[in-house]
Amino acid sequence: VIDIRKLYGQTGMFTYDPGFLATASCESSITYIDGDKGQLLYRGYPIDQLAQNCDFMDVSYLILNGELPNAEQKREFDSLVTNHTMVHEQMHMFLRGFRRDAHPMAVLTGLVGAMSAFYHDSTDITNARHREISAIRLIAKLPTLVAMAYKYSMGQPYIYPQNDLSYTGNFLRMMFATPCEDYKVNDVVERALDRIFILHADHEQNASTSTVRLCGSSGTNPFAAIAAGVACLWGPAHGGANEACLQMLEELQANGGVAKVGEFMEKVKDKNSGVRLMGFGHRVYKNYDPRAKLMQETCKEVLGALGLENDPLFKLAMELERIALEDPYFVDRKLYPNVDFYSGIVQRAIGIPTSMFTAIFALARTVGWIAQWNEMLSDPDYKIGRPRQLYTGHAPRDIAK
Ligand code: ACO
Repeated sequence: VIDIRKLYGQTGMFTYDPGFLATASCESSITYIDGDKGQLLYRGYPIDQLAQNCDFMDVSYLILNGELPNAEQKREFDSLVTNHTMVHEQMHMFLRGFRRDAHPMAVLTGLVGAMSAFYHDSTDITNARHREISAIRLIAKLPTLVAMAYKYSMGQPYIYPQNDLSYTGNFLRMMFATPCEDYKVNDVVERALDRIFILHADHEQNASTSTVRLCGSSGTNPFAAIAAGVACLWGPAHGGANEACLQMLEELQANGGVAKVGEFMEKVKDKNSGVRLMGFGHRVYKNYDPRAKLMQETCKEVLGALGLENDPLFKLAMELERIALEDPYFVDRKLYPNVDFYSGIVQRAIGIPTSMFTAIFALARTVGWIAQWNEMLSDPDYKIGRPRQLYTGHAPRDIAK
């Protein structure tokens, strides 16, 4: 702690905390994490109870409104979201401007930001009703945009939303149906993807959520703030870890598989190698990430239901985890699997290409981002976020004449 008066001649204390290891940026009543216990609560409910008893629409309602919906509220919420799943037809033209081999996260960042140009009628952030409509539009349209980005990358026609399907069933159909062949939604697959959505829905003040809050604190519109969150999520230390983790497993499998795990782990422990065990470690969890446990369970279920019990990547992941949990390097640093360690294997089994993983994470996290943004704006005392710095440059000097 440094006395700010010595630095800037102002009153108050000044903390220097790179990476915000010990600085709270806000008050929030949405999500609670106890990293030492490995506990995660949404609005007070443990994540395992939510994953076992609710669907993503229940959880979205809970995150947005603070309580789980009763039957009538659930029906209304479902119908509201369903009624907003279509996107403006001109979005298709906007999408056509991208190269087909662009990364889906590059496309999604653009599409979400562009929503402020298509839905500018709800961008008055001082109006609570506008904020609510924007929230519903974002939650409802993200699956459509993600599926459109996928279809575009494949050179296939877009599949329009079908209103009699569930949120997750509709997304699966928009991803995998074609004009020649409809997609029959498999219950186990639908439930598994829905669980992925639930587990990724919010995670308090992580990098992308803090980005959404900081961006939104300037008073910008919700679509711009969420686009900033999508951009931040893309990085491999954050949401991009699911893609990086699967690539790591595939590479390891191609280079010897389980037999080479020990050798690979030595490389991970060698700081000069620059190799990290992707899907391992977390800034807050210093115990098993509760989401990883649930994801491992889902992984077994999906592989079993699809006849992929002997999936070599799952075996490889289990072996990596087994070795890591016994190795003093990981034990001493409290490094455990995080949510991304098993989610990639589930998505791959469902048929989702690796490049889409982070876009699907963004789809699920949108509800958390928008709830956090709304919580910030609903506080009458909120201020624009403005971190300070420790200046290390030149003292005042004159240009030589
Ligand atoms: N593999 C090997 N070593 C690791 C790993 C890892 N995955 N993660 C951390 N470490 C080591 C570091 O080298 C460091 O060792 P040292 O003390 O000897 O220098 C120590 O553990 C602490 O690591 P930090 O990087 O300081 O931890 P931080 O809290 O800043 O980082 C992070 C957390 C970014 C998640 C990190 O663990 C990581 O890079 N993991 C891999 C990427 C990943 O899976 N990200 C997803 C996070 S979950 C999410 O965003 C959904």
